[in-house]
Amino acid sequence: MATVLYPGSFDPLHLGHIDVIEQSVELFGTVIVGVMHNPTKPSGMFTLAQREAMIRESVAHLPSVEVMAFDGLAVHAVEKAKAAFIVKGLRTGGDFEVEQQMAHTNHAVSGVRTVYLPCKPALVSISSRFIREIAQYGGDVSSLVPAPVATQLATLFPTPTSAQQATS
Ligand code: PNS
Repeated sequence: MATVLYPGSFDPLHLGHIDVIEQSVELFGTVIVGVMHNPTKPSGMFTLAQREAMIRESVAHLPSVEVMAFDGLAVHAVEKAKAAFIVKGLRTGGDFEVEQQMAHTNHAVSGVRTVYLPCKPALVSISSRFIREIAQYGGDVSSLVPAPVATQLATLFPTPTSAQQATS
């Protein structure tokens, strides 16, 4: 068994991410979820601290999972977390293109390797970007995210129904 780092921006965490975390626990044992800044996504919906707190609540059922926020490079986070390698989830060919480039570059500069896990077919269409969009315009994303994330999104973007539930 190994300790692995699952880095991502998780803005916000969704059920596809939970699937990758659960697969990683089953295959490798200990998983450090590394909440990181993605330089290509400059402004976040939630702060790193808020994302970290939501993820911690959402993985409370998995005792071998730790959640940490990291600054800087993913390969430095691997060292800090004393992880053996990086784990990433793949939904589509588009993900593969991006992840392959990052995996090759991370390996070239540090020797750190990346292992890909295919997401469950039922979850391949979920993306944090669309969750942010739907929630911002008052849509219901509760079928796409863990309950603690749904609660935070409903607080940030109250709809008439969620505001009523919060006060009842
Ligand atoms: O969930 P995301 O947004 O796809 O995660 C991307 C993330 C945060 C893993 C990636 O942007 C990253 O590794 N950021 C840290 C900076 C880094 O290591 N850059 C070098 C990439 S080769």
